[in-house]
Amino acid sequence: MAVVIDGKEAAASVIAAVTEASASLESETGVKPGLAVVIVGDDPASHAYVNSKGKMAKQCGFKSIQHSLPADTSQETLEKLVAELNADPSIHGILVQLPLPKHLNAEPVILSVSPEKDVDGLHVVNAGKIATGDLATGLISCTPAGAMLLVNRIHGRDLSGLNAVVIGRSNLFGKPMGLLLLAANATVTMAHSKTKDLGSVCRNADILVAAVGRPQMVKADWVKPGATVIDVGINRVAAPDKGEGKTRLVGDVAYAEAAEVAGAITPVPGGVGPMTIAMLMANTVIAAYRTAGKTAPGF
Ligand SMILES: NC(=O)c1ccc[n+]([C@@H]2O[C@H](COP(=O)([O-])OP(=O)(O)OC[C@H]3O[C@@H](n4cnc5c(N)ncnc54)[C@H](OP(=O)(O)O)[C@@H]3O)[C@@H](O)[C@H]2O)c1
Repeated sequence: MAVVIDGKEAAASVIAAVTEASASLESETGVKPGLAVVIVGDDPASHAYVNSKGKMAKQCGFKSIQHSLPADTSQETLEKLVAELNADPSIHGILVQLPLPKHLNAEPVILSVSPEKDVDGLHVVNAGKIATGDLATGLISCTPAGAMLLVNRIHGRDLSGLNAVVIGRSNLFGKPMGLLLLAANATVTMAHSKTKDLGSVCRNADILVAAVGRPQMVKADWVKPGATVIDVGINRVAAPDKGEGKTRLVGDVAYAEAAEVAGAITPVPGGVGPMTIAMLMANTVIAAYRTAGKTAPGF
């Protein structure tokens, strides 16, 4: 039976380190890390995410502000708000909650955030730094950074000699995850919807990362015995066993059967999920240290 990788516990230890780093920055320099979250519209799931980010920022000792804009906000108004936050010295991290309402174009909004304050790590400057192997001066996208931290807990920081397969090639997750694994010396295969015989590609993986958005797609016979399986997928499926109309969250991996074969595996929920918000806090404190001219802590 696989070791279950406890994302809640890993996230809690990152949050504890962030809280400590935030307190020492404030006592040494008077700078309090500041996180601004911008949300447009009234999607309940997005509001729940944003509320938990605000709560966590306060818990870390940050200045936390939230801008809730109406669903019919114009592109110009949104970008003007981002420009104001870029110019605000008390704000070190800016996060625009995605997805945006359909009439808004996310790409120019992402590019309007100053790269130094892009705590989501989505700006092309930060994506470019990961692509060129510069992990020291940019901000790394939160979910891949968190997933990587879980990989490091099992294998250490040097993945020399290990084969890694990432299923999914999104800019948000798959691409940066592949690049982080490569920077750690893994031999990386990026798989996607056009990959031929995905099962046999996966069976080659010492580290198998699934980020597809298809419930329980990765079966036990895709998993190399002893492999580390990182399940990024979050899928809500019907759960008639819990009662009529009830649902549950599952990952992209058929957890119960894969856990019989894997060496280590992340559960859903409680695996990669809690890491995203923890790494958002880590990026904010890193950005604040850099602004204060201090060496940023590592996580
Ligand atoms: N905080 C978190 O824990 C967190 C954060 C981000 C994402 N997620 C979850 O991770 C999952 C992926 O998110 P995302 O934003 O990366 O999704 P995405 O942008 O929709 O990308 C999905 C990727 O999966 C590939 N794919 C689709 N069907 C496939 C198939 N049958 N076989 C192989 N590959 C296939 C796609 O390939 P093509 O490129 O060829 O279309 C694409 O690259 C979702 O469940 C999301 O909810 C969780």
